[in-house]
Amino acid sequence: MAKTAGWRGRAVRGTFVHAPEPGTIEVMRDAIISVDDAGTISEVAAAGTAAHAALAGRDDLMTVAQGQFVIPGFVDLHVHAPQYPQLGEALDVPLEVWLGKYTFPLEARYADLDFARERYTQLVADLLRGGTTTALYFATMHRDASLLLAEICLDRGQRGLVGKVAMDDAASCPDYCRDASPEAAVADTRAFIADVRALPDNDRVLPVVTPRFIPACTDETLAGLGKLVAECGCHVQTHCSESDWAHQHAITRYGMTDSEALDGFGLMTRKTLLAHSVFLTDDDMALVKARGAGVAHCALSNTYFANAVFPLRRALDKGLNIGLGTDISGGPSGSMLEACRATVAVSRQLDTGVDPKLAQDGRGVAGSRVDMRIAFHLATTGGGVALDLPIGLFRKGYQADAIVVDPAAADGSVRLFGADPLDHLEQILYTASLANLAQIHVSGERVA
Ligand code: GUN
Ligand code: FE
Repeated sequence: MAKTAGWRGRAVRGTFVHAPEPGTIEVMRDAIISVDDAGTISEVAAAGTAAHAALAGRDDLMTVAQGQFVIPGFVDLHVHAPQYPQLGEALDVPLEVWLGKYTFPLEARYADLDFARERYTQLVADLLRGGTTTALYFATMHRDASLLLAEICLDRGQRGLVGKVAMDDAASCPDYCRDASPEAAVADTRAFIADVRALPDNDRVLPVVTPRFIPACTDETLAGLGKLVAECGCHVQTHCSESDWAHQHAITRYGMTDSEALDGFGLMTRKTLLAHSVFLTDDDMALVKARGAGVAHCALSNTYFANAVFPLRRALDKGLNIGLGTDISGGPSGSMLEACRATVAVSRQLDTGVDPKLAQDGRGVAGSRVDMRIAFHLATTGGGVALDLPIGLFRKGYQADAIVVDPAAADGSVRLFGADPLDHLEQILYTASLANLAQIHVSGERVA
């Protein structure tokens, strides 16, 4: 659908549910939020307060339907936009084979802007429909098609952080899908940043410096991008220590881990998002924490390509900024609800272990489990914190990015048999499907 004014400049009465801290869910029954003309939450009034009474009298008051409630929009911290057409395909080969045989040939096709437009338009519409109000996107190496993705996000109303992918190393990138030189990789990234920043009426799309991963980039490109980041202050995204092969590459090439090498190139900042990061050492985690960088935990994708489970609980205990990513199409689903479910499931497998031949006490990594409340926090607040953006919470000064949940939708998949939905939030997150997501808002605009 085309975006509409929705909640902008109005007050909205309903039950708002969010997760400010990992492990707790806060329910604000019959609250009223007011949203300013730019889509920022200007007030949150709890039931029974004078502020609530004042807002309740406003003639622009909108009321969320009985039985429905509002959660923050989902923040997907890792999406390869061009890979949407191969969602669910070729998941049975190792990462390095998958990239060369399927992924690079597909991404090369985005040199054709008509091809790109059709696929990107469908992706952005589908992700919005699934409640992804913010997405951190890898586009492709093509500057024009990457800008087109940014324009489509803006047109459809999605908060998009978009990177033109830098990949210039002839040793691992084929000549049909490779920046012409380190100079070209950096210059195109610089020009792309300027292009995105110059988009008219751009209140929600940001450019991202995006070295694909260390194996795809020469040292000259990594160093050049690090310098560019210091100049432009942009977000940074890359893959970090994803699989045994990728993790080992940096160790062989530099005698250090991905995190240490990225830091050496100036690519580890407060606004850096490291996808996967499965093999982070304790020293790596300390470095990531010290820089304030974040991890995009891609539980489903890791199941296929990463050779191990990211120690999420350990990283949370160390205070790292963490959110969730679908990693379309390393993961075969673009749904953030599925990402939440996979996050919980793989944490349980790490916790108990998986090989029934082993004795119980030596089978897993006890203490690794997380629950759905933590996954919900990561999919919303955690993503916002990791991006250093005011999203993912219903608080004054935050953007009105929201999903209206309808647990009773007849064609949905939540079955509560009359029980109070607010007593069953985890059950709803486990069982909801698209039809249960009644409305999607970004900065107060209705986008799906
Ligand atoms: N490492 C480098 N490129 C990619 C990619 O496209 N997907 C995943 N999962 N890992 C990568
Ligand atoms: Fe990825």
